[in-house]
Amino acid sequence: MTIFSVQSTIFSRASVVLLSSNGFKRFSFASSFSSSAVYSPPLPKMKKRRYPIVSAVDIGGVTISRNDVVRDDDPTNNVPDSIFSKLGMQLHRRDKHPIGILKNAIYNYFDSNYSKKFEKFEDLSPIVTTKQNFDDVLVPADHVSRSLNDTYYVDSQTVLRCHTSAHQAELLRKGHTRFLVTGDVYRRDSIDSTHYPVFHQMEGFCVFSPEDWNESGKDSTLYAAEDLKKCLEGLARHLFGSVEMRWVDTYFPFTNPSFELEIYFKEDWLEVLGCGVTEQVILKQSGLENNVAWAFGLGLERLAMVLFDIPDIRFFWTSDERFTSQFGKGELGVKFKPYSKYPPCYKDISFWISDSFTENNFCEVVRGIAGDLVEELKLIDQFTNKKGMTSHCYRIVFRSMERSLTDEEVNDLQSKVRDEVQKKLNVELR
Ligand code: DAH
Repeated sequence: MTIFSVQSTIFSRASVVLLSSNGFKRFSFASSFSSSAVYSPPLPKMKKRRYPIVSAVDIGGVTISRNDVVRDDDPTNNVPDSIFSKLGMQLHRRDKHPIGILKNAIYNYFDSNYSKKFEKFEDLSPIVTTKQNFDDVLVPADHVSRSLNDTYYVDSQTVLRCHTSAHQAELLRKGHTRFLVTGDVYRRDSIDSTHYPVFHQMEGFCVFSPEDWNESGKDSTLYAAEDLKKCLEGLARHLFGSVEMRWVDTYFPFTNPSFELEIYFKEDWLEVLGCGVTEQVILKQSGLENNVAWAFGLGLERLAMVLFDIPDIRFFWTSDERFTSQFGKGELGVKFKPYSKYPPCYKDISFWISDSFTENNFCEVVRGIAGDLVEELKLIDQFTNKKGMTSHCYRIVFRSMERSLTDEEVNDLQSKVRDEVQKKLNVELR
């Protein structure tokens, strides 16, 4: 069992995420999710914005304007300004940032162990079609990850990618057969030290031809699975040194068989990546029916938090020099020295929920007001009265990573949270 749960992969059966406190649990791709997709109406757009509105961002030389992504005219659109402003940041392309340092270390591993080079893509736009994000990688039509509650929709056919697997099929169709895709991915989620609505993934993909496995005398799937495991065990040793590892069988819609790699770290098993032998349909759709391939996807924040001892995922987004100056190009595994831990401030809020209430929507409202000043949001009490009304009590932890917050400031944030929650979430404050 993995206890340490930093965002890494979503599509495995192992990731059981408590989505909303209506007693509804999401078992990603578990056998029975029947009619489970939660419908959560998009939030009404914010009037008062805490964030300075960014009007355009640059992604790989292409200018994307705010009005194309944060759309008041489309009822499906659920992208807030706080998310739009992250679109062009590309932390993975900064050589002195822990995410960039880790990416480069993984590149080094592939460059020095494979004479046939892996091509690298790190500049592909995170704005993709639902076909790329879901259909092309065989995500079932009724899977919960397609809901507005889990994914940021630009319009009904366009999303902010929720995984780098969104690019597999398109690159195969263009003729690429060995590649690494790194990028920012977006998911509506809970608030705590290991979850943030934007994080980074790396996808690896490797296609084999009959001559590769024929001379081994092995069946093609077994050949690919063995090669995959050897490759990733080597990568884990490259990053972590000689660690104990184990393979866990799992399920992803795009691979069969599918595995997760876990390493033994600080007295616990830590899931580091998902992978498997690519479903033949995906290869066939790209004209590669005589081939076999493996693929993997890993969450860079999860690995970086462990490798650099970074205790809170919000640190990756800070421009505080006391953080940024601690890391240097090529310096993998430098341990982060906390400069100061400012005091937390706890505020509780209770309300009667309505049927459409979801915890992800609540988190979005709180993040929209408090930004990175909110550290955690947790349900501390709930009950249903005789009339069938359900009450939730949440504890919000406010804490800045840069300074002490004043009482006045926190009271002001909390009062805005109370106002907005009432206006947008159709709940009754208690
Ligand atoms: N896309 C998966 C996720 O985000 C991770 C993953 C698993 C990618 C298996 C792969 C793979 O390419 O083969 O949960």
